[in-house]
Amino acid sequence: MPQSNFELKRKLLQLEALHDIGRALNTLRPEGDLLEELMQRAVAVLDATIGFAVSLDEKLNAQSVYSFDIEVPVPEVLLAEPPVRQVIASREPISLTVSRFLGGEGSNLLIAPMVAGEIILGIIGVGGKEERGAKSGSFVEDDLRFLSSLAAIGAAAIDNTRNFRRLDLMRETLEDENRSLKQRMLRDYSDRLMVADSPKMQRVIDLVARVADSQANVLIRGESGTGKEMVARLIHGNSPRKDGPFVAINCAALPETLLESELFGIERGVATGVEARPGKFEMARGGTVFLDEVGDIPLALQAKLLRVLQEREVEKLGGRRRIPIDVRILAATHRGLEEMIERGEFRLDLYYRLKVVEIVLPPLRERKDDIPKLVRFFLDKYGKREGLKDVRITQEALQQIMRYPFPGNVRELENLIEGALALTVNAVIDPGDLLLPDAASSAEEAVLGPNEFTTLDEVESRYIARVVAATKGNLSKAAKILGVDRKTLYRRRGSMSQTDTIGDKWDIH
Ligand SMILES: Nc1ncnc2c1ncn2[C@@H]1O[C@H](COP(=O)(O)OP(=O)(O)OP(=O)(O)O)[C@@H](O)[C@H]1O
Ligand SMILES: [Mg+2]
Repeated sequence: MPQSNFELKRKLLQLEALHDIGRALNTLRPEGDLLEELMQRAVAVLDATIGFAVSLDEKLNAQSVYSFDIEVPVPEVLLAEPPVRQVIASREPISLTVSRFLGGEGSNLLIAPMVAGEIILGIIGVGGKEERGAKSGSFVEDDLRFLSSLAAIGAAAIDNTRNFRRLDLMRETLEDENRSLKQRMLRDYSDRLMVADSPKMQRVIDLVARVADSQANVLIRGESGTGKEMVARLIHGNSPRKDGPFVAINCAALPETLLESELFGIERGVATGVEARPGKFEMARGGTVFLDEVGDIPLALQAKLLRVLQEREVEKLGGRRRIPIDVRILAATHRGLEEMIERGEFRLDLYYRLKVVEIVLPPLRERKDDIPKLVRFFLDKYGKREGLKDVRITQEALQQIMRYPFPGNVRELENLIEGALALTVNAVIDPGDLLLPDAASSAEEAVLGPNEFTTLDEVESRYIARVVAATKGNLSKAAKILGVDRKTLYRRRGSMSQTDTIGDKWDIH
């Protein structure tokens, strides 16, 4: 039967609309948006005056709803309409005329289910066919087929979006789980190496867990003795490079030219008698370079270091070859780099290169809750070394420690406990074993008067005398506390000032 021109045009229009909407829904969008798009296309192509669409969850509760020119106060009202219920139950499209719908007047309706696989994901409906401006037309069979096709496309799009959401959620959950497992592992691991119970240190450990895996350069900051090197080793030890070398260099300890050759290496024949030597960057291949006291690198060398970090190649002193480097860079400083940058002493570009991630270690006075455990940690560590069993500390001694501000942070606490263990006659540390400066005065003032300035030699002599006095002349113990051997101590005693009467009391054990 020949079809009229009008019908052909209508079919063409419907096909184009299906094609368009298929493309338009081929992206992931919120369900509300999808319903709106479907609805508007359906109303436009079918010359309808009203439209409605609702998406359903697996328990057939409404998820999103969208309506056109008809009020749906709550989705449940729409779901309660008998023709809608019928479509949801049968999963078949219907065409019918009702005398009332959603509190409005009667209308002819088309409703189609949105089905994906075995599951109904929603319904879409239109009503009130408009013909030349009058609500008098009626839908034809083709219209219902068109609406069903549209509903099928909509169902596929909703299904896609939901599957993607589910996968995304699963991925997020797995990622979270993975992250917390890593953090727990790192916590267990760090528990054996260090004390980090305070909330501030817990944040540090969490940050370490997050950066350890990456290749990012990390700048570790904090006052002297707060554990910067320890954290650098923790990062390395938990990174994929943990089986490679950890090569530390103290940038403050060497003059410029030496530092340069230490970092980058020397080619043979730079000067007579100079052997070729690899630099730290080369030695750390496959591992980590730790640039300690990075704030102390002279400006000229900062430029060279920056080039190495940017190009990931080093050129040895006196060499022409460029050697590719495979290292992760960790750096530490106790200095205020920002002020140094303002004064032109540190390069801004190098600063940004180094601090891709920044970890700031809190001073010990801001995490006093860690002190008792740190004391225990060091008592065990040095007790074992001294061959002492079950070392204890008295309440008074611990209280004295808690009151002290520790300008030298954990290192100072560590030295204090090490010293106390060298001094103590039994395995109980009491206040008499603590070489604590008067809490009111600073550590230097305990050696010198508050306004007294003198040479380093003099300070050293006085300090030695103080330690020797505290050990009641036991030179072995004094040497241990001072970190020198007994012979050195004996020699230094010779250079001490004659007014020092303590020297006379020394006897060697
Ligand atoms: N949280 C901690 N638990 C146990 N030991 C610690 C802790 N923090 C630091 N230490 C110990 O304190 C000493 C000083 O730490 P480290 O050398 O890492 O500090 P630093 O910040 O690099 O100091 P500096 O600025 O003087 O170089 C080390 O012996 C280290 O093992
Ligand atoms: Mg250090």
